[in-house]
Amino acid sequence: MNKTEALAKRGAKVVMNTYSRFPIAFDHGKGVYVWDTDGKKYLDFVAGIAVNSLGHGNEKLAQNIAEQAMKLIHVSNLYYTEPQITLAEMICEHSDFDKVFFCNSGAESIEAALKICRKYATMKGKAGRDIITMEHSFHGRTYGAVTATGQDKYHKGLEPMLPDFIHVPFNNLEALKAVVSENTCGILIEPIQGEGGIHSADIEYLKAVRKLCDENDIILVFDEIQCGVGRSGELFAYQALGVKPDAATFAKGLAGGVPIGALMTTDKLAQAFQPGDHASTFGGNPLATSAGTVVMDELFNNGVLENVRVQGKYLTSKLMELKQKYDIITDVRGMGLIQGIELSIPVGPIVADSIEKGLLLVGAGANVIRFVPALIITKEEIDEAMAILEMALQNAEVNK
Ligand SMILES: Cc1ncc(COP(=O)(O)O)c(C=O)c1O
Repeated sequence: MNKTEALAKRGAKVVMNTYSRFPIAFDHGKGVYVWDTDGKKYLDFVAGIAVNSLGHGNEKLAQNIAEQAMKLIHVSNLYYTEPQITLAEMICEHSDFDKVFFCNSGAESIEAALKICRKYATMKGKAGRDIITMEHSFHGRTYGAVTATGQDKYHKGLEPMLPDFIHVPFNNLEALKAVVSENTCGILIEPIQGEGGIHSADIEYLKAVRKLCDENDIILVFDEIQCGVGRSGELFAYQALGVKPDAATFAKGLAGGVPIGALMTTDKLAQAFQPGDHASTFGGNPLATSAGTVVMDELFNNGVLENVRVQGKYLTSKLMELKQKYDIITDVRGMGLIQGIELSIPVGPIVADSIEKGLLLVGAGANVIRFVPALIITKEEIDEAMAILEMALQNAEVNK
């Protein structure tokens, strides 16, 4: 047994079995490559599921984290720190939002969003508590976030779920209108569904939802945990799609791999949270927010956002070429560096074969392979990934 297999065995004994893990243990990484503990090299098209926005071993990020750790890792949110203020300023400067609440993960940012929708309704004297979310959405695993998630499989055995959540089919205005009422206080949408299979919201649909929210004083929240932080080619996917929400959530890539989450709102909505209404001990700590300022700086001042636009188009063209060649590919979807291919067969064996050949891929449901590499990916690295994927597709067609 080699070292990585031995580690996987040790891990299976003591680490809770909440993931279907591959028997691989990683040791270190550089750029878009990671090495397991036996020295096998992998091209990483998973990036921690859209987390390692600047890739692995980024020196600016590591240096910044080390220096911040020597200075100050944590103080209470009873006080201000410069990194937290600076990151909030950077996000607001590059968006339509005025205020940021920091937390530590995606699910926590969703909790904050759900709470502020209901608090806002209370502030406005509305009794309604309904929050409408989309089928096939994914919003996280805490009780509020998992209740909001529109996939029954994540609810199984956890019932009763939280009351007053309604799920409707995605991109279906009539279905949404049919459930909107005076009791509706919030609508939560992933502008590009990630986990649910890389499905983008139609722009006309989003415009109509915006109108519906304006007419009924309903808070429109975009979950940009996976599709945000530059992945669409803009800081927020809403900017790429052209429809402004009242609030949005970030997490994953915002601090390049250091745990972080954020809820962004307009000033009007932010008033619904007053001291004591919501909080997080670790949220916005100087370590995570300092790392976040490096990511934002790279996105805007070092060409990373532009790289997403260029390489995103290139990735689309390469995936379309594969679709022409392989009948099993039925669709190519997404934008920037959040893309997916849908297959007519289960993707599990293709993902496993690619990993064996040195390419880390991840599915999104049973029939979709998702491509969410680091935002610094190059054309050559995309070519390398496509060559490995093509070999795995060939094998899959032969074995069909
Ligand atoms: C769109 C979306 N929302 C929420 C979450 C939950 O984030 P976390 O795992 O950081 O709680 C995820 C995670 O995959 C996600 O993709």
